[in-house]
Amino acid sequence: MSLLLRPLFEKTSSTYTYLLADMQTLDAIIIDAVDETMQRDITLIRELDLNLKYIIETHVHADHITSSYPLKQYFTQAKIVLSSVNEIICADILLNDGDTLSFGVYTLSAMKTPGHTNGCMSYVVGNKIFTGDTLLIRSCGRCDFQGGSAEKLYDSIQKIFTLPDETLVYPAHDYKGRTMTSIWEEKQFNKMIGLNVDKQIFVSRVNKMELDLPKKMHVAVPANQDCGARKL
Ligand SMILES: [Fe+2]
Repeated sequence: MSLLLRPLFEKTSSTYTYLLADMQTLDAIIIDAVDETMQRDITLIRELDLNLKYIIETHVHADHITSSYPLKQYFTQAKIVLSSVNEIICADILLNDGDTLSFGVYTLSAMKTPGHTNGCMSYVVGNKIFTGDTLLIRSCGRCDFQGGSAEKLYDSIQKIFTLPDETLVYPAHDYKGRTMTSIWEEKQFNKMIGLNVDKQIFVSRVNKMELDLPKKMHVAVPANQDCGARKL
């Protein structure tokens, strides 16, 4: 057996959590774990007898509280990982662009993708990329808080688009029941940035997004700066 990938969904915030493992060594990582679904994730990790090495965030989320710190209390060898752009003292590892982490025979490479927030990081594992809220299915993240910048988001998505067309894309959210996409599909069909749209048009589209602030934002952002520890 080789790479295990389990997309896990949290329905209140429509967040995807991803559990990945090398099924030979049982070394595992989890990306964007959510407090509401922590027990489900713990049960699965224990059932599969995985050795959770890294608890990874694509960014400091505004719409839900992470379970990273509480999870670490269960899996004490695990390390909390974020981009170095975030000043998060509860993180064990702060990654820079191009840094890598390994689990079993697999390597995760960090790709700095600011724009949705200034501290956003995407992660490449083989032919897969976990894009957080940078590139969504047919859409992209908003840029109106946490140091967001539509200009930077454009450049970050162009960087993601340099990956091979067949690369599979796993976003942090989908609100329409979709699960994954590919670089090729998004280059063609993404409503914000598809069909080689130029930067100016993209920026005006992002600036026209009319979205309410996330309901939990004023609780979630400070809680996530503490890796979700306040919930304990
Ligand atoms: Fe976000």
